[in-house]
Amino acid sequence: MKMRYISLLSCVFLVSVVLKAQSLSGVFAKKYPIGAAVSSFMLKNPSIDSLLRLHFSSLTPDNEMKPEVTEPQEGVFHWTGADAIVHFAQQNHMKVRGHCLVWHQQTPNWFFEDHGKQASKKVLYEHMKEHIFAEVGRYKGKVYAWDVVNEAISDNGKSIYRTESPWYKIAGKDYIAQAFRYAHQADPKAVLFYNDYNVFMPAKRAKIYAMLKELLKEGVPVQGIGIQGHWSIYEPSEKELKETLQLFASLGLKIQITEMDVSVYHWEKNERAMRPGEQIVWNDSIANIQAARYAMFFRVFNEFPKVITGVTFWGVTDNYSWLNNYPVRGRRNYPLLFDKFYQEKPAFHAVINSQR
Ligand code: GLA
Repeated sequence: MKMRYISLLSCVFLVSVVLKAQSLSGVFAKKYPIGAAVSSFMLKNPSIDSLLRLHFSSLTPDNEMKPEVTEPQEGVFHWTGADAIVHFAQQNHMKVRGHCLVWHQQTPNWFFEDHGKQASKKVLYEHMKEHIFAEVGRYKGKVYAWDVVNEAISDNGKSIYRTESPWYKIAGKDYIAQAFRYAHQADPKAVLFYNDYNVFMPAKRAKIYAMLKELLKEGVPVQGIGIQGHWSIYEPSEKELKETLQLFASLGLKIQITEMDVSVYHWEKNERAMRPGEQIVWNDSIANIQAARYAMFFRVFNEFPKVITGVTFWGVTDNYSWLNNYPVRGRRNYPLLFDKFYQEKPAFHAVINSQR
C-alpha cells in the first residue's frame, strides 16, 4: 500500500515536471518574464484564461491603459479595464507592463487644447503631468515598467522626430524628456521605456539611437528601449536584429521586445483593401517557415542574456490579433504562438526548443 502511494506520488511529480517543461513562462523562468498583451474581455474567455495562467508571467493591456481609454475627458477617468487586467495579473502572480502614457495616437484632443484653442506648452505639460501622475500613481507598485513615450521618431526623411505629432507641434522634442521626468517622479521604482516599431531598420534605428543617447547624456530617467516585435516571416534578418540589439545594449539600456507577432505577410503601414488571391490559407509550409523565424529570433535573444529583460507577445491566439484587419481590411493573419482553436502551433514548440 505504502509502495503504491509512493509510486503515485512520483507519477504526479513526473507529470508536473513534464507539464512545467511545456509552460512557456516556466521555460523562461530564470531568464525574463514572458508577456501577453490582452484586453479585459479576453480574460473572460476560459480558453484564454487557461493559456495565460499556464504560459505567461506578465500582462500588458493592449488598449486599456492608453490615454483615450483612461482619461477621455480631462479629469474623467476610466480604470475598469486596466484594473481588471492588473487584478488578474496579481491573482496569478504575474507582472504588469504599462502601455502607454504619451503617444500621438489614441490620445484625446483635450490634451492639446485650452478653452477651444491650441494649448500652450505650459498647459500641455500641466495636462501631461496630471495624466501621468494619475495613471502611474494609481498603479504604483503594481505596474513594474511603463512604455512612457511611444513612437516619437519619424519613419522617413531626414527629420529625427515625428514632427506632425501634436505633442511635437506644441512642445518640440522636449516633450519626450518631460514625459520621462514626470513618470519617474510619479513612481521612482518603475522601469521606464521608450517604445517604437521598425527599430531594426538602419535609418530609423540611427535616429532612435541618437535620441536616446542625448536623453541619457541629459540625465533623463529612461532605462530601456521597447522594441516592438511587429515582425514577419520576411523581416528583420538575423544580422539586422543582432546589430540592433548590440547597438542599444552599448548605451547601457535594458531591452524588451514589447509587441511580438510574426506576420505571414510583408510589413505595410497604410490601410488598404484586400487584393484578389492574397489571402494566405494556413498550411504546414507557412507554419514551419514561421516556426523557423521564431526560433531564430529567440536564439538571437539568447545571445543577450544580461540585456533582454522581457518579451511580450502582442496577443495570445491568432483569432484575437490586430493583424487580422490591419493593414489590409478583412485579411486573416496567423502571427502568434496559438491558433484560433487555442492550440499550440509549431512556432510555440520552436520557441520552447530554442531554449534547450
Ligand atoms: C502599436 C502600438 C500598440 C498597438 C499596436 C497595434 O504598435 O504601440 O499599442 O496599438 O500598434 O495593435
